[in-house]
Amino acid sequence: MITGANSGIGKATAMAIAKRGGTVHMVCRNKDKAEEARADIVKETGNKEVHVHILDLSETKKVWEFAEAFKRKYKALNVLINNAGSIMSQRDVNAEGLEKSFATNVLGVYILTKSLIPLLEKSADPRVITVSSGGMLVQKLRIGNLQSERGRYDGAMVYAQHKRQQVVMTEQLAKTHTSIHFSVMHPGWVDTPAVANGMPDFHRSMKDSLRTPEQGADTAVWLAVAEAAAKNPSGRFYHGQTLQLECTSPLGAGCYAYLRLHLCLCTDRKMVPTHLPLAWTHSSALEEQKLLSLLEDLAKTFQPH
Ligand SMILES: NC(=O)c1ccc[n+]([C@@H]2O[C@H](COP(=O)([O-])OP(=O)(O)OC[C@H]3O[C@@H](n4cnc5c(N)ncnc54)[C@H](OP(=O)(O)O)[C@@H]3O)[C@@H](O)[C@H]2O)c1
Repeated sequence: MITGANSGIGKATAMAIAKRGGTVHMVCRNKDKAEEARADIVKETGNKEVHVHILDLSETKKVWEFAEAFKRKYKALNVLINNAGSIMSQRDVNAEGLEKSFATNVLGVYILTKSLIPLLEKSADPRVITVSSGGMLVQKLRIGNLQSERGRYDGAMVYAQHKRQQVVMTEQLAKTHTSIHFSVMHPGWVDTPAVANGMPDFHRSMKDSLRTPEQGADTAVWLAVAEAAAKNPSGRFYHGQTLQLECTSPLGAGCYAYLRLHLCLCTDRKMVPTHLPLAWTHSSALEEQKLLSLLEDLAKTFQPH
């Protein structure tokens, strides 16, 4: 199951898994876009086991309803890829009164994952992969303002905070659900509508060095299907990025050593730390557990009876 599978990294991931013969459940919010993407995938791969499900992850109660209905209909689920995500330019709330970026990027991911855990546990090799972002490296977990009610609303910073929350969520879920292999990853900077529309200045200045959606999907696909991926510990962060750096600095060897180190940290399919060296972004174990209990309480409020 891949959320946001009609576009960008999600579509490239769906394509790659369909090519390998996997049954793909595309969870998308726009029926026309989803059906069009499905047709492309079926045409290119010849795999007809590609199914469309319509769900807007910002609609909290509907996330529960979708997951519960999916569990009733299907006997098992092997892999969940939480890929859908978006940056909001201004604060908006959903029908339940929750800030929409939080509802989509954090609570929707939490509810979908938690609700599908019993189904995943029926699989022999269940995995959950969440597409976070390297932008989270500049964020310290903040649990006191989950709805972004206080302070100026900076959509890119709110998004980056939510991507940090996805990393913490993954680490915590990996501790409590040990039969499932959890991973969270940065796809690299990829030329997709999310970047073009959500970060137009960044997109303009970086356009020539952005990765293709297929390159962005590489680590997610590997985490979903490779035997080697499941041998790594659960709950870890992966960085999908290949930097091409040239050292022309007069600092010579020392600078080169730094660049080599940086390259080494940024290669596809590699586990990397969730904090930059000497960063101020670490949070306490108590705060990290507290995030999960806040999400659990909020999720329960909207759970259908
Ligand atoms: N591109 C990058 O450089 C980059 C870097 C770091 C992380 N990421 C992450 O990669 C993931 C995929 O993004 P992308 O770059 O491939 O962008 P994209 O092509 O715009 O894809 C985003 C997908 O998420 C879907 N989506 C957004 N909000 C949704 C909602 N409320 N409910 C259901 N689906 C929703 C979109 O649906 P619609 O098509 O209907 O809008 C689309 O299918 C995101 O989580 C993003 O944060 C991307």
